[in-house]
Amino acid sequence: MARNPLAGFAIVAPAARFDPRHMRIALVSDTHLSPNDALLEQNWRAVAAWIEALRPDLLVHLGDISANGAHDPAELAHARAVIAAPACDVLFLPGNHDIGDAGAPDEPLESRSLAAYRRAFGPDRWSLQTAGWQLLGLNAQLLGDPGEEAQAQWAWLAESLAGSEAPLGVMSHKPLRPYGPEPPGRYPDPAARQRLLDMLRARDLRFVVSGHTHQSLGFRAAGARHVWAPSVAFVIPDAIQAPVGAKRVGAMLLELSPARFTLRSAAPAGLARRDLFELEHIYPQVRDMRRGAEAP
Ligand SMILES: [Fe+2]
Ligand SMILES: [Fe+2]
Repeated sequence: MARNPLAGFAIVAPAARFDPRHMRIALVSDTHLSPNDALLEQNWRAVAAWIEALRPDLLVHLGDISANGAHDPAELAHARAVIAAPACDVLFLPGNHDIGDAGAPDEPLESRSLAAYRRAFGPDRWSLQTAGWQLLGLNAQLLGDPGEEAQAQWAWLAESLAGSEAPLGVMSHKPLRPYGPEPPGRYPDPAARQRLLDMLRARDLRFVVSGHTHQSLGFRAAGARHVWAPSVAFVIPDAIQAPVGAKRVGAMLLELSPARFTLRSAAPAGLARRDLFELEHIYPQVRDMRRGAEAP
């Protein structure tokens, strides 16, 4: 299995070949790869071809890499095998479908899955100093959990924030600032979210990029840009998720140079816009959702 060349440490050293003045980072999210659906894999192949043509310096996956890794850790190894070795370095973050979610009774945090995630994808949180920026990748699934892993992340976060004065960009599976309705599970636990935002206030936070909602959106709050990256795999129908942003599939490109950033949407050729209602064979709970529950 391909090893992540940047993996293994929570504080990540930039690869020597990174240009210190300019960095291009491809962002993808919510691939929901499953051994039981070949079309989801086809969407990943479209993204892989886009990356191959684009040749960014780094790829970041914002989580929900797998469809059901939280219940079946073997799906994480399957997803890693599908992703294999993209045409650039890659960093991952876990999503609720990969390792579960703090405080969610129907998908609790699974330590087995977190261990399997780390074996397959490397660190679940990381800090990267590059092109005059600090980029922090957070394990949003731990936010609000009282356990040791969550406490270790808080300590790591305090240390990482104190270790740089560079402009800051944060990446997280879940969005950190509410926008529109707050269905259960969309945002981290309110107390943990506030604690995090208070800590970030000490720094020059410029942007937060997240996945998870399967919608594409950008807004400003407290001087920072908050961007929801779309899913690579599928959208969630309006019948079970109120539209807030654009319901499309796609990817994003982040460009960094000292003190400047741009974040743009990308539409890799060949991506099929699928819909969660087509995926009942992977998510049987969709049948119940049709009857009134709301998706994140
Ligand atoms: Fe997702
Ligand atoms: Fe998610």
